[in-house]
Amino acid sequence: MSSLLIDNIGLLVTNEPALGDGMLGVLRDAALVIENGLVAEVRSRGRRSARSAAADRGIDTGGRCVIPGFVDSHTHLVFAGDRAEEFAARMAGEPYAAGGIRATVASTQAAATEELRRLTELRRREALRAGITHLEIKSGYALEVEGERRLCQVGSELTEDVTFLGAHLLPTEYEHRADEYVELVCGAMLEACAPHVRWTDVFCERGAFDGDQSRAVLEAGREAGLGLRVHANQLSRGPGVQLAVELGAASADHCTHLAKTDVSALAGSGTVATLLPASDFSTRQPYPDARTLLDAGATVALATNCNPGSSYTTSMSFCIALAVREMGMSLEEALMAATRGGARALREDDRGRLAPGARGDAVILGAPSYAHLVYRPGVPLIAATILGGEVAFTDAELGL
Ligand code: NIG
Repeated sequence: MSSLLIDNIGLLVTNEPALGDGMLGVLRDAALVIENGLVAEVRSRGRRSARSAAADRGIDTGGRCVIPGFVDSHTHLVFAGDRAEEFAARMAGEPYAAGGIRATVASTQAAATEELRRLTELRRREALRAGITHLEIKSGYALEVEGERRLCQVGSELTEDVTFLGAHLLPTEYEHRADEYVELVCGAMLEACAPHVRWTDVFCERGAFDGDQSRAVLEAGREAGLGLRVHANQLSRGPGVQLAVELGAASADHCTHLAKTDVSALAGSGTVATLLPASDFSTRQPYPDARTLLDAGATVALATNCNPGSSYTTSMSFCIALAVREMGMSLEEALMAATRGGARALREDDRGRLAPGARGDAVILGAPSYAHLVYRPGVPLIAATILGGEVAFTDAELGL
């Protein structure tokens, strides 16, 4: 058995209201024991228990704040090349257009598999440094059968939550033949990718796939036994959110341009509204109205959407800061959305919370409270990332 005691925690966020105060279930002067990768004990102000005395390793956090690891439920991590010039042009006034995806398709297709693997692993390391203990990875930068299969395979080496996104954009060679491409996505491409993935997704948007095409992609994925996710209402209002809810998708992602009927559909459903504020920052879109969604009763997740076009960041702290400053979320709601919310969007009940039986995935902040994630924007505050009870990253400067 392997066990880790995290002791002398000033503020412990469990995300279990039954274990502590408020919606985050906060404990003060707490300790956490992780055994064989799972949370075994959560304690506040008590004497040392037999379990903590028996732990074979210990970390004294010196009164710091410990939170559940961030769960990033929307990334496009497997790609080559960057689009810094496109970003610079956007900052100079050019609008964001989905067509930029084709530039990344070209550089990704040109990269050898080993290189793609190396680049994706580097980004996974970067995410660990940002406190992300679990993430989802989408394909979508190949748009042909073997290329999409390759991206799904590389993703599956790093996470079990891989999403097939062959319907990311219409490749140029299928111009005016969208229905033929959709047939390919629903047929040979899905068949090649399905063994590597848990989810299927579609970019339902003007300039990408319309409502009927998106429905066909999602229904084919469901038929193949995959869970559903939808890029919905990112650049304009459209049928994406309604389709996601109607088909029982786990998540409708972006939700930047919502009609009232979209809000009520999400609120009355099991579909999580996954908000991606770093993309709205980088594409100069308005921010999604998280307040209205939460007040209506919708479940909200925050994710980084790390990709080279619309959101080249792995910083969940940045997303939390935007959500609090610009989207009407409280600190507690934003932290919940970036942890438990992400887990809900992936239908993973044992992640995003620190309660007995859940995964031992935690972040030790170099700060006494989670408020510092927003109070000190842009400052690296992740002192350590714990993955299944093992130290996956420590920041020597924040010295534990
Ligand atoms: O979620 N909108 C579609 N896909 C990505 C952007 C991809 C890109 O621009 O390369 C997104 O924002």
